[in-house]
Amino acid sequence: MAEVTISADSILQALNWRFATKSFDTSRTVSSEDLNTILEAVRLAPTSYGFQPFHVTVVSDPDTTAKLRRAAYDQEQITSASHILVFSARPNISDRASNLFSALRRNGVPEEAVAKLEKFSKITNLIRTVTFSRTSWAAKQAYLALGIASLTAAELGIDGCPMEGFDAGKFAKILRLGDDLRPAVLFAIGYRSASDKARPKYRLPLRQLVTWHDNQAALI
Ligand SMILES: Cc1cc2nc3c(=O)[nH]c(=O)nc-3n(C[C@H](O)[C@H](O)[C@H](O)COP(=O)(O)O)c2cc1C
Repeated sequence: MAEVTISADSILQALNWRFATKSFDTSRTVSSEDLNTILEAVRLAPTSYGFQPFHVTVVSDPDTTAKLRRAAYDQEQITSASHILVFSARPNISDRASNLFSALRRNGVPEEAVAKLEKFSKITNLIRTVTFSRTSWAAKQAYLALGIASLTAAELGIDGCPMEGFDAGKFAKILRLGDDLRPAVLFAIGYRSASDKARPKYRLPLRQLVTWHDNQAALI
């Protein structure tokens, strides 16, 4: 793998440039190359144990987006965006777990290490089932992947809007998702329309968001 060469400036520039776009330019479409880069970023996102407990449905068909918009409180992004990425939680990961463990074995990871991971994952999955919903655990992984998709889109100069203002049950029905998928969050992507201006960014200062426990803090 080549060394990473993206500069800190370019990352922060992209993150300052992006904003949650409310209205997209309907005349512009995200190219399949850029769309693939965003989806590849989603694929490379870290997940708990590497189980990837989510699924992404890409929607651009106008008949479907019109129906989705009605199930998303009539938010304009749904029909003006070039594509809607629907991130669904996929709480049943038994097949993905066994595929992952077989792949690790095939790739020469020592049996002892794989067995340890397998055992540990079974214990934590059991704890999860008892303490909180597995769907909520799976959704968290989807949100993390969405975050990475959002940064990737910004780096490519593509606008986006993360969205959780929609009716998950209606989305599942419209998209004919199976029982194993539960829509968690959306990412509408495209290009901002001329009428949609970036709003001033409101963010907490770092000192309110971060606490340091390090040698320097101890000296102050
Ligand atoms: C999980 C999540 C859900 C969101 N849902 C919606 C939504 O349904 N509709 C919308 O217009 N914006 C939505 N937003 C956008 C936020 O309101 C926006 O990111 C926030 O106000 C910060 O502004 P900025 O992203 O433009 O910097 C959502 C953002 C996140 C992270």
